[in-house]
Amino acid sequence: MMKVVIIGGAGGIGSSAAFNLLSAQGTYEIVLVDTRPYMITSHVMDQENALALGATPDTVRGGTPEDTLDADVVVLSAAVPLRLNSSRSVFLADNASIVGQCLRPLKDSGFGGVVLMLTNPVDALMTWVHRQGWLPRHRLIGYTLNDSLRLRTGIAYALGVHPRNVDAWMIGEHGEGQVPLYSRITVGGEPVVLTSEQRAAAEEYADNWYARHVALDSGRTSTWTTGLGTARLIEAVATDSGTVLPASVVLDGEYGVHGASLGVPVEVGRDGVRRVVEWDLTPGELHGMQQAAVRVEAAVDDMDDVSAAR
Ligand SMILES: NC(=O)c1ccc[n+]([C@@H]2O[C@H](COP(=O)([O-])OP(=O)(O)OC[C@H]3O[C@@H](n4cnc5c(N)ncnc54)[C@H](O)[C@@H]3O)[C@@H](O)[C@H]2O)c1
Repeated sequence: MMKVVIIGGAGGIGSSAAFNLLSAQGTYEIVLVDTRPYMITSHVMDQENALALGATPDTVRGGTPEDTLDADVVVLSAAVPLRLNSSRSVFLADNASIVGQCLRPLKDSGFGGVVLMLTNPVDALMTWVHRQGWLPRHRLIGYTLNDSLRLRTGIAYALGVHPRNVDAWMIGEHGEGQVPLYSRITVGGEPVVLTSEQRAAAEEYADNWYARHVALDSGRTSTWTTGLGTARLIEAVATDSGTVLPASVVLDGEYGVHGASLGVPVEVGRDGVRRVVEWDLTPGELHGMQQAAVRVEAAVDDMDDVSAAR
């Protein structure tokens, strides 16, 4: 049984990730941790009744930050509430303070598991945590799958096919510096080159998804997609599958980037990132990666300057 502790487990994506794990194939001890204890109790009272319908003998309960110490996977989705915004980056300082607080028990604890960062802005927070120097980069994974799913949906609408049949990858920053890989699209396993109109339509869908969704001012994030995607990522860890998924990882020279965490194709296994898969990119795509790295590092530098000045 794999112990998965979800910090922020009373929230939208934390509770959705827990729910999706309950119907996944692996067997999980799921522990929800949050600063809202009544909301944790509400989710546990509800989800424990779903156990009888589960495929495997999972368990679910509320817990405390100390539960992270012997966890196999710590999912970090704790955050300040969503509000109208023009970029995920506006949450950096506030969410860094929460992330720092949540990870504190793990420092110097001999923690041997994997941290899966969902909190935004994910690339900057990953870079910031890694700079603190206590967690090897392969055990720190940032969730960025949604960007590729949005690109696949946009392409599917542009071509009039089902999104399931489309394979397409968005790498780079989970945000303004995203890099669509138009050179690697397949539909039904066959390579496809989009016309300029199809590409414009797919790009419009993927690039503006976040702004369109935030503008609804619903107070909720992409809870269903993210919960399902998170469960898939955890299944890849649990089964040591070696599945290649897009995820944010601190790069060490791959794609010409040193020290910034960006979305890249990652082979996922029991210890987290087995390896970063290096594809041949076009000069334009590589330039996009460089630009994204500069953006992310500048944001973290600014933050470090602010905390050093305090
Ligand atoms: N990486 C991605 O693709 C992706 C996708 C969706 C959402 N997100 C991000 O994930 C984060 C959470 O989203 P959400 O929809 O679940 O938000 P939410 O507001 O529903 O949940 C956040 C939860 O964190 C809890 N929390 C706050 N401070 C805490 C602390 N110190 N310790 C424990 N719990 C704490 C809150 O009580 C709340 O339950 C946001 O930053 C959001 O932008 C990322």
